[in-house]
Amino acid sequence: MREISAAVLIEGGRSTVLETLLLDDPGPGEVLVRMTAAGVCHSDLHVRDGHWERPGPIVMGHEGAGIIEQVGAGIDRAAIGRQVALTWYAPCLRCRNCQLGRQWICTASPALGHAMADGTTRTTRPDGTPVLTYLSIGTMATAQVVPAAAAIPMPDGIPDGVAALIGCGVSTGVGAVLKTADVPAGATVAVIGLGGVGLSCVMGAVIAGASRIIAVDVNRDKIELAGQLGATHWVHAAADGANVVDGIRTAAGNGGPDYVFEAIGLPQTIGQAIAALPPGGTAGLVGLTKYGEMATFEPFPFVDGGRRIIGSNYGSAVAGIDFPRYAGMFLQGRLPADRLIDRTIGLEDLEDAFDRLREGRAARQVIAFDPTGS
Ligand SMILES: NC(=O)c1ccc[n+]([C@@H]2O[C@H](COP(=O)([O-])OP(=O)(O)OC[C@H]3O[C@@H](n4cnc5c(N)ncnc54)[C@H](O)[C@@H]3O)[C@@H](O)[C@H]2O)c1
Ligand SMILES: [Zn+2]
Ligand SMILES: [Zn+2]
Repeated sequence: MREISAAVLIEGGRSTVLETLLLDDPGPGEVLVRMTAAGVCHSDLHVRDGHWERPGPIVMGHEGAGIIEQVGAGIDRAAIGRQVALTWYAPCLRCRNCQLGRQWICTASPALGHAMADGTTRTTRPDGTPVLTYLSIGTMATAQVVPAAAAIPMPDGIPDGVAALIGCGVSTGVGAVLKTADVPAGATVAVIGLGGVGLSCVMGAVIAGASRIIAVDVNRDKIELAGQLGATHWVHAAADGANVVDGIRTAAGNGGPDYVFEAIGLPQTIGQAIAALPPGGTAGLVGLTKYGEMATFEPFPFVDGGRRIIGSNYGSAVAGIDFPRYAGMFLQGRLPADRLIDRTIGLEDLEDAFDRLREGRAARQVIAFDPTGS
């Protein structure tokens, strides 16, 4: 048992609060991770702002990395001291989807209950109230107990912030392009929304060998960064989005891009992604909407033109395979994920980080933890 500091959400729509919690020892099949870095993803903001209902109190954060400090029964002690990136969707390895190799849509992940596999939590308030951990990893805390299947060892030489981003934004964006859509070399690709996820789609398109990469955002700084990462064309979206569809089509040539990835989660931009497709084109939907929101498109040209829409969860990540692959690509200089980090903050700055993210002012903000773990 040890004391940790953690960003706790009591209820969506209210500010998170920095609390001192008690962290239990890891149980069977669990590991204790001292957190080194945690990214602030827009999905955390969806939860913070109450777009998706989550039970509380809950430790926030689902993009993180750290060092294994303690292991529970059944876990090899050799893991102690290893740097790990955390997956927010620890697979059960038994359900039908896991057996089909589709761990990203596991139907029995402990993450669904924001707790350990046995349904209990290792975090409690000093008065004994159990505190859930977002997607079973609750990374916005100085240390956390997680399912061992969520802790993926990193090769040597990976900066903590990069390991954290591999845990969500990078795998989500790169994987949407390379895995879910399997974009072939020479294809034309547009990406709408250039946050940590969309910029990772851009990096994925570069790795895929796309011939044109069209970056679209309302924010010029994001477009600039996308250009540095390999985007070849850009559309500075007007506030009403009126110039986006034509802008993408013109930049792509051949009537429109072969692939459009939407990485925001707004009905308006989802509509743009579909409308910009030429016959045979594919829209990859990566951004997550508020619960209950609907997007619309005109079916006739969609069907007549043999277009496709694909949903991409977690970039179709099989964390144990893909996290080390992406880390290897970083080491080779092919996946410059460190370029996404434009601000390093403390846990106490989380609400300010949410404000910046809400206004689209940040690419990826990363919480860096004090190495003493205090
Ligand atoms: N599918 C998944 O598995 C998965 C995983 C992680 C995150 N997500 C979702 O992906 C989305 C993006 O996450 P992020 O962390 O990169 O977000 P972000 O807030 O960092 O990035 C969003 C970007 O969209 C831009 N933008 C906003 N409105 C726009 C508009 N109307 N037109 C053009 N650009 C606009 C912003 O300027 C910003 O650059 C979120 O919805 C998040 O929940 C999905
Ligand atoms: Zn995320
Ligand atoms: Zn499963």
